[in-house]
Amino acid sequence: MSAPLLEVQGLAKHFPVKQGVFGRLSGHVRAVDGVDFHLDAGETLAIVGESGCGKSTVGRLVLRLLEPTGGSVRFEGQDLLALSDSQMRAQRRRMQVIFQDPYASLNPRMTVGAMLSEPLMLHGLAASDAARRARVGELLDLVGLRPEHARRYPHEFSGGQRQRLAIARALAVEPQLIVADEPVSALDVSIQAQVINLMRSLQARFGLAYVFISHDLAVVKHIADRIAVMYLGKIVETATTDELFRNPRHPYTRALLSAVPMPDPTVVRERALLEGDIPSAMNPPPGCRFHTRCRHARESCKVDVPVLADDGAGHSTACPWWPEFPPAPSLVEGTGQDQDRIRLARLQAAFVTSHMEAT
Ligand SMILES: Nc1ncnc2c1ncn2[C@@H]1O[C@H](COP(=O)(O)OP(=O)(O)OP(=O)(O)O)[C@@H](O)[C@H]1O
Ligand code: SF4
Ligand SMILES: [Mg+2]
Repeated sequence: MSAPLLEVQGLAKHFPVKQGVFGRLSGHVRAVDGVDFHLDAGETLAIVGESGCGKSTVGRLVLRLLEPTGGSVRFEGQDLLALSDSQMRAQRRRMQVIFQDPYASLNPRMTVGAMLSEPLMLHGLAASDAARRARVGELLDLVGLRPEHARRYPHEFSGGQRQRLAIARALAVEPQLIVADEPVSALDVSIQAQVINLMRSLQARFGLAYVFISHDLAVVKHIADRIAVMYLGKIVETATTDELFRNPRHPYTRALLSAVPMPDPTVVRERALLEGDIPSAMNPPPGCRFHTRCRHARESCKVDVPVLADDGAGHSTACPWWPEFPPAPSLVEGTGQDQDRIRLARLQAAFVTSHMEAT
């Protein structure tokens, strides 16, 4: 079996926290605290979890935009952390990033043509001006925009179009991996569907792999092959998307899934509500980090750190007690499940029937 495109092991990032006028070190934010995952070529892994759980930090560590405190990141079998700056610059061409706010990542004073030409010239990907212009037109076409858009500036585009521009710029260097950090979270639902559809079709065409970071499980359902659920700097469950929705095991995953909104407000279903706030990442609870909010917690959970154990079929859960839990109330056969199916079917229909954004 060939090595995965991306392999992350024991990844950690502890940010130092300084206080007072002398900047005395008062502790560390353990933003990412021992994360393992892999990603194959052409595959989408979604990373989901509440705000502050470390999703963006993982994305930045993978791209080596941040230096980790510990762990390893291998891309095509190569240890990224062992690369020199110049080797890393060359490698960056293969790994691109898309952020939530495309406006912030697009230079307002550059035309779209200049913006898309920049990476082509930097990496020697266009032999002549004519070739460069042709490639810019091709990139715009790939993301559903028109060649004449090359003369416009970012502020002349809508939010969805700007995200298309950000995707075009990422594609310019023919990457194998794109880390997309909440790429549709700032967009209206119908535009979200269009951008997700675009990302899926580009993935099928170019064999792209995505690390898709999102707090929205309904969105993730439409793009991810596999999902990793994060809580306070650690992955608590990973499974294929179908398996995770059908058979969530970790109490945190169950709570997240039961909070996915329903289309019909008259339908009442039992929700495994998340109680309390997320504890501070500076001082995470001992034992299982979720124990302060877990309805199934027992004494040993305050002491024993659960390992992310694979069941042999690719479904991993960081809770040794899951086999004892009753089926998740919202997802057992019956009303809840039917309603979930209806909702997801509706969402799927919206994704399939959405058209490319006009101009
Ligand atoms: N540069 C930094 N210095 C100190 N702490 C940081 C830094 N960047 C992130 N953090 C902290 O690390 C933790 C994880 O942050 P991160 O941005 O990765 O979370 P996230 O899951 O992406 O959240 P969101 O959904 O809000 O984007 C948070 O507690 C955050 O405050
Ligand atoms: S290990 Fe304990 S606290 Fe953690 S999720 Fe499982 S039951 Fe809950
Ligand atoms: Mg984030």
